[in-house]
Amino acid sequence: MFSAAIPSSQDKAGLYAELATQARALLAGEHDRIANAANLSALVFRSLPDLNWAGFYFFDGTELVLGPFQGNPACVRIDLNRGVCGAAARQLRTQVVPDVHAFPGHIACDAATRAEIVVPLARGRRLIGVWDVDSPVAARFDHDDQRGMEALCAIYLDSLD
Ligand code: SME
Repeated sequence: MFSAAIPSSQDKAGLYAELATQARALLAGEHDRIANAANLSALVFRSLPDLNWAGFYFFDGTELVLGPFQGNPACVRIDLNRGVCGAAARQLRTQVVPDVHAFPGHIACDAATRAEIVVPLARGRRLIGVWDVDSPVAARFDHDDQRGMEALCAIYLDSLD
């Protein structure tokens, strides 16, 4: 069902639509934020090509704290003034970073990471955390990935009600 190569834009939309259907089914009827974060991380990490990390950081009122993820062990606490995750959380705006080496303040949890996308998780202006996905391939994420990841995050946030 999922292609191993980076899909075309049209294929990508279909891929994310399929992932969204799977995510809705996977999270249906469960409201636990940890359980749903764990399952969504596993679904995305196993379904999309060229990823080396996919997971959550939750806002504890002061900083971002590592949540469920797939990939190598990662830094546990992230100040809101640091890194791609901090930028997404502060601005409440998705960050698409084609080359992490060119992003001032990028936090290198894994030296293999070249590209990153971070989607803020919020209820209105209330920050809940961020969804962070890394790739060893430069420019791995584009606008289609942004739309697809934001749709998956909306499904995750809906599941918490
Ligand atoms: N690179 C992120 C830190 C988290 S790890 O990628 C898992 C950042 O700069 O915020």
